Amino acid sequence: MQQYKNVFTRLIKFSLSVSWHWFTISIIFTAIAVFASTLIPMFTRYAIDEGIMANNFNIILRYSLYVLLAIIISSLSRIVSAYSGSRFAHGVSHELRIRAFSNTIEQSLDFFDRFTTGQFISRITNDSERISMFLNAMSRFFINDILTVIIASYFMFTMNVMLAIISIVIAIIASYISFRSASMIRPLIDDSRRIVSEITSIASNDLANIKTVKGLALEERELRVYSDRNRDLYTINIRIARMRSIYGSMPFLLIGILATFILFYGSIMIIRGLMSIGELTAFMSYLFMLMFPLTMIGNIFADYQAVIVSARRLFELIDMRPNITINNNISLKSIRGEICFRNVWFGYVKGKYVIKNINLRIEPGEKIVIIGPPGSGKSTLLKLLMRFYEVDEGSITIDGIDIREINIEDLRRNIGYVPQEPYIFNRTIFENIAMDRKWITFDDVIRAAKIAKIHDFIETLPNKYNTIVGERGLNLSGGQRQRIAIARALVGDPKILLLDDPVSNLDAETEKQLVDDLEEVLRGKTAIIATQRISLTKLANRIIVMDNGEIVEEGTHDELIARKGLYYRIYMSFLGEGDRIEER
Ligand SMILES: Nc1ncnc2c1ncn2[C@@H]1O[C@H](COP(=O)(O)OP(=O)(O)O)[C@@H](O)[C@H]1O
Ligand SMILES: [Mg+2]
Repeated sequence: MQQYKNVFTRLIKFSLSVSWHWFTISIIFTAIAVFASTLIPMFTRYAIDEGIMANNFNIILRYSLYVLLAIIISSLSRIVSAYSGSRFAHGVSHELRIRAFSNTIEQSLDFFDRFTTGQFISRITNDSERISMFLNAMSRFFINDILTVIIASYFMFTMNVMLAIISIVIAIIASYISFRSASMIRPLIDDSRRIVSEITSIASNDLANIKTVKGLALEERELRVYSDRNRDLYTINIRIARMRSIYGSMPFLLIGILATFILFYGSIMIIRGLMSIGELTAFMSYLFMLMFPLTMIGNIFADYQAVIVSARRLFELIDMRPNITINNNISLKSIRGEICFRNVWFGYVKGKYVIKNINLRIEPGEKIVIIGPPGSGKSTLLKLLMRFYEVDEGSITIDGIDIREINIEDLRRNIGYVPQEPYIFNRTIFENIAMDRKWITFDDVIRAAKIAKIHDFIETLPNKYNTIVGERGLNLSGGQRQRIAIARALVGDPKILLLDDPVSNLDAETEKQLVDDLEEVLRGKTAIIATQRISLTKLANRIIVMDNGEIVEEGTHDELIARKGLYYRIYMSFLGEGDRIEER
């Protein structure tokens, strides 16, 4: 419980630091609204006892006006408190989301290997949504309910102590029941939410990979999985509805019975002259006024633990530090482009190495093609050089400086990297190439696009560089996407260029064209190209053959062919493939 308290205190402090003024306004106006509306039964009581019973029209008029005034004040105040309470809650959850998200994307890549995307999305969206709802409830309903209970009880005590005590006891029982039922329903609601997000991810996964699904004829299986989960959701939602309708009406039943008793008992007291009609009316009004707040208080307490869990998870994301250790932060202005891997070992999982004792020295301006079967560690080697991951053993240097000591932004500014599956954002072509790097000018973008041989195509588009591309924009072909990504990597004119399987998803004709054009792209740069395709080796000064995390062969095309090793086998199978293509 202690730790709950700390997270809660932190949540409150955080919330107030983000938006204390909206919170304060909400509290003040909620209080005003409660005061005004709890006065109404008292005004009614005087209107009855001193006005109606005494046949005094002026008093009736006066208290009627008071009631009208109280209603106007409380309604206006509720408008203000509802608005400011929502501003408060949404302001806080907005801030929580931004902080959690911005800290999440700062993490190094191995962090994303450990969690699934779905886990983040649900953390960031659901948890902040729950907190927002709770804060909204807290800043308005909770204060409203507590004050209503206190003030209404006070007036009830002034009128009839014994009836007041009975009412309060029953009321506490009623709120306890609603607390218990809310606590029982809560986990079901969580289950239901979880299933909804599973269903969403099943659907979005299937649709995103629709080619695979259809290619493997998995439609029926996927539909079955989908409908099974949907049935679970249906069942659980029905259970929730059943429990809600049963338990939800219990407090009302209890208080209703109590009200009937008070009506009966109070009437007898009135006949005996121990209570006035106005008092009984007011008493009954307060009793009904208590009903809703009491069930709500129970609900808010039931939410408390879930909110603490959500808050803790979000704070965890906010507190995370990237596990790349920032060392001396040597800044790099311009480099020659010499790269050296020395005894480099690396594993995504501790002890399970996928890069084994790599030693590789690349001279400035040299073009290296790394070739090898899938899973041999080619992409990983490039990622280590980008410092997406930290090496386990050994070191990687650029111009003799250990990359761990280089300021990470400088490092990445000096290396143009084209990942295996470059992502095209749903923005303009210009933005897709410049990528928010403020120092990049329009001319830089055009120059890069020309070298990547995509400029002419862009010029044919109606909005040229301002054409929106990506998921909801213009659909680009594989080759065009690849060229945009190359332009993106080239645009800062980095000395080093890393291309990860640049032709892997292209048809033979596009592949040939791109390989030809890459020659100019690489001019004057140190380049490493990871690939499974023989076609790219013609760009290489030196070919490195990797297998199972190790460098197994090294040399020029002719040297490697003469060795009749792995390279030779890859080459022969490539020729075989070429023959088949020819035959068709
Ligand atoms: N994010 C990751 N988490 C765990 N293992 C990975 C990850 N990425 C790659 N691997 C594993 O590391 C090995 C090398 O992968 P990779 O460098 O992508 O090979 P290549 O690019 O040569 O196909 C493979 O066994 C692969 O399964
Ligand atoms: Mg790869």
